[in-house]
Amino acid sequence: MQVHRSIQSLRAALGGASHVGFAPTMGNLHAGHVSLMRTLRSQAKTVVASVFVNRTQFGPNEDFDAYPRTFEADCAALEAAGVNHLFAPNEAELYPTPQQYFVEPAPAHDRLLEGALRPGHFRGVATVVSKLFNIVQPDVAAFGKKDYQQLMVIRNMVREMNFPITIIGCEIVRADDGLALSSRNGYLSATERAEAPRLQQTLQQLVTEIHAGRQDYTTLESEACTVLAANGWQPDYVTVRSQADLQPASAGEKLVVLAAARLGRTRLIDNIEID
Ligand code: PAF
Repeated sequence: MQVHRSIQSLRAALGGASHVGFAPTMGNLHAGHVSLMRTLRSQAKTVVASVFVNRTQFGPNEDFDAYPRTFEADCAALEAAGVNHLFAPNEAELYPTPQQYFVEPAPAHDRLLEGALRPGHFRGVATVVSKLFNIVQPDVAAFGKKDYQQLMVIRNMVREMNFPITIIGCEIVRADDGLALSSRNGYLSATERAEAPRLQQTLQQLVTEIHAGRQDYTTLESEACTVLAANGWQPDYVTVRSQADLQPASAGEKLVVLAAARLGRTRLIDNIEID
């Protein structure tokens, strides 16, 4: 695997490459990221990953400084997953001057759920992903479904901005006890880690109720929040939405249940698609 710190070096190495697959990351890689790389390995000739902790998608009181940086371990994981090129720029390389042009997601996709709670987050994501797409020029790019709203924003951005890129959504990878893998799981204390699978269990219970025919989604959502709160969580939302646009669920649509909740100082998100 070649490691590139500059855009020039990456572009020179990729010149003329066909069937390029790309997965952007912020590092601190886990099996979920590795599954993105393996998916790309099976679909592309050349696989490119990036590691860049993108300041513009963090709010002023969020964990940009604390975000775990584990570059050596990340390199080993990417190499083992068959990645050919790693792009790992510093901030001056990707943002040589203060960024004044941004990619603004549609308000209908931005001003709900994560976007409502983290103003500017998806603008930062859409902007850095656009920059990375322009630098790497992949044919296919992979994103995890754990960040469900992010995947929706990227899919719509790619379609509306005419990026010639196929977007693949990869399934959530979970620990044996059901907790969705996340770089932020490392913030959990041992006691919190033991409690953390409840988020997925609560969503799973909601799915079971919906499969059993319940359609009183508002009641189901508030029951789920009550369960979480009774076990020491501070829920931001538990909600049943349309898979396509994350608007409140209505009849005949494919649904997804999503949750975001704080356990101690760690904010976790998860979701389950309903077939
Ligand atoms: O999902 C992430 O890790 C980030 O939001 C991404 C897509 C790498 C952009 O910084």
